[in-house]
Amino acid sequence: MSRFVLFGCAAILLGANPRGSPADVAAGAATFRSHCAPCHGFTAEGGRGPNLTTGIFYHGSSDADLLANISDGIAGTEMPGLFYSEDRVWQVVSYIRSLSARSHTASNGNPEAGQSVFRGKGCAQCHRVAGEGGRVGPDLTNIGQMRSPEHLRQAVLDPNADVRPRYWVVTLTTKDGRDYTGFLMNEDTYTVQFMDLKEQLQSMQKSDLAAYRIDKTSKMPSYRDSLGARELSDLVAYLSSLRPAPLRADAGSSR
Ligand code: HEC
Ligand code: HEC
Repeated sequence: MSRFVLFGCAAILLGANPRGSPADVAAGAATFRSHCAPCHGFTAEGGRGPNLTTGIFYHGSSDADLLANISDGIAGTEMPGLFYSEDRVWQVVSYIRSLSARSHTASNGNPEAGQSVFRGKGCAQCHRVAGEGGRVGPDLTNIGQMRSPEHLRQAVLDPNADVRPRYWVVTLTTKDGRDYTGFLMNEDTYTVQFMDLKEQLQSMQKSDLAAYRIDKTSKMPSYRDSLGARELSDLVAYLSSLRPAPLRADAGSSR
């Protein structure tokens, strides 16, 4: 929870960005492409470094935080200090802001409200966040680092769009009449291994089976009809905010 409190506390100390004209945004984009894209991706949606288009920044979201993180780098991480003139860094900040303004996904959501949606809709029945919750679905503790807001939005609205093999479901019946359902773990010519819905690993000889089917649709229900637009953007903002803990105990709080 403390990560939300860190947002914006330094904003009061510095004035607004002085380099926000369209020409500044264009200059910032050029700097970004030559110096930042190798790590953050050409469209800033992430690579070795995180996605910068969401409007949510783990190390601080105010203009002052961005100025400091880009000028000085983030100690103890791969994010280098760039030591440009302050004006040039402000231009890059304007460019980054222009991306989240355009992004129609997480930028206007409220992560704290999204956390309530997550609890209220029962997502934790199947998903763990920071050690709490079920194991039927993937652990979401660092999902904001790994996935773009677009992907997260799609995962909630249309779970069948992109189901990894680890979440394909096997249904089988043994020759002596027992039925099983579980996530496919491994399969070869003679055997099949799966994790049943009670999280027990099972291994079966195919020669013992009367029926065997693999279903590539998701076990996750679609929330298309049960989330309002506001709830959805808050939820995506919350998921986007789920990132690894800082490497330094004081990261983000000292600026
Ligand atoms: C060598 C790779 C590398 C380069 C080059 C690089 N970054 Fe980063 N950047 C990172 C990594 C890795 C992180 C994540 C640090 C962490 O939290 O562990 C990061 C973090 C950030 C953050 C903080 C994100 C957050 O969630 O708070 C911002 C903002 C940022 N970079 C902007 C830039 C800009 C702008 C440039 C170019 C001027 C740039 N970076 C160049 C690797 C890089
Ligand atoms: C009945 C169990 C179940 C419930 C309830 C559930 N999920 Fe899922 N979820 C899954 C499974 C299984 C997958 C993996 C298969 C897939 O990609 O759809 C998944 C996948 C996801 C992914 C994609 C993860 C990735 O690696 O890309 C996200 C994000 C997600 N769920 C979020 C949610 C949210 C938010 C809610 C509540 C609104 C929710 N889930 C409710 C079972 C569930």
